[in-house]
Amino acid sequence: MSATAPTTLTLRRPDDWHLHLRDGNMLKAVAGETARDFARAIVMPNLVPPVVRGEQAAAYAARIRAALPEGAAFTPLMTLYLTEETDPADLRAAAEANIVQAVKLYPAGATTNSASGVRDFAKVRKVLETMAEIGLPLCVHGEVTDPEVDIFDREAVFIDTILDPLRRDLPELKVVLEHITTRDAVEYVRAGDDNLGATITVQHLIINRNHILVGGIKPHYYCLPVAKREEHRVAVRAAAVSGEKRFFFGSDSAPHLDPAKESACGCAGCFSSTIALAAVTEVFEQDGALDRLEAFMSLNGPAFYGLPANEERITLVKGEAQAHPGKIATPDGMLTIFDPGFPLHWRVEG
Ligand code: NCD
Ligand code: ZN
Repeated sequence: MSATAPTTLTLRRPDDWHLHLRDGNMLKAVAGETARDFARAIVMPNLVPPVVRGEQAAAYAARIRAALPEGAAFTPLMTLYLTEETDPADLRAAAEANIVQAVKLYPAGATTNSASGVRDFAKVRKVLETMAEIGLPLCVHGEVTDPEVDIFDREAVFIDTILDPLRRDLPELKVVLEHITTRDAVEYVRAGDDNLGATITVQHLIINRNHILVGGIKPHYYCLPVAKREEHRVAVRAAAVSGEKRFFFGSDSAPHLDPAKESACGCAGCFSSTIALAAVTEVFEQDGALDRLEAFMSLNGPAFYGLPANEERITLVKGEAQAHPGKIATPDGMLTIFDPGFPLHWRVEG
């Protein structure tokens, strides 16, 4: 590091545009991990059973607020889980009452708790039209579920066969292509218009598929969409550090207790909230892009969602390498925190 490289950095308090908080004991264990650094988060609705109606989203938001540590200033931005039975009138009412900020599309069977997702897009056409009309974004888990399609190709095939036709059919619909993992997705989003954005996770900036599979299987690096080849990680990372407005941070922090990860059939999901801001800051520093960190973490997301950026500022301070926090103890068992594989030096002051 040169003598002139910054050791403090002030930016607007960031938001997390894709987060899993779960419920019950897990919610209580992880809510504060996000609230420590982030002002707001788009909270995923894939509970069991899923959050499908406005009243369920309102009740879930209340449980999240109740799980926050004393004095935490954190606003959950709620989503509804799109099913073939979603009622356009209920969705419109929930959006107009500011109870929900987005709707989540899981292709049926694509990932954890997605069995109630969409099989036949014709059945959700009315709902999507309503969303386009009122400007409510659709957050998309962009993977096909066809067993014939290789797991490493599922994002690229989704873009060609589902996302692009959907956007041509309803160009007024705002779409966030979530947790992008491929060069294909980066290029598609760049070529799109202002109704298209993409979130990028911590892990997809840092790991490729070798990290999961070489030298023994590493279940804590397994998430969906699964990390791809190195050339894809490089493309995704270049998009993030570019500061371009289409790309913004969404951790996809997705806690599963260790026995569910370290299993003959391990769950998909990396829990990263605890180290997310420090790890992304380190990535931007490694790439000489600290001047674009605020765009990615704090500005591009609210601009896409049509929300104001946070007024509060935080200061990040660079210091000695910090020990990785390892695991969190929950009443139901241990939860492993994503390990970026390099030391973290930045922490929020105060
Ligand atoms: C998420 C989860 O565990 O809820 N898992 C993951 O690997 N990302 C679901 C999801 O967002 O795909
Ligand atoms: Zn997710």
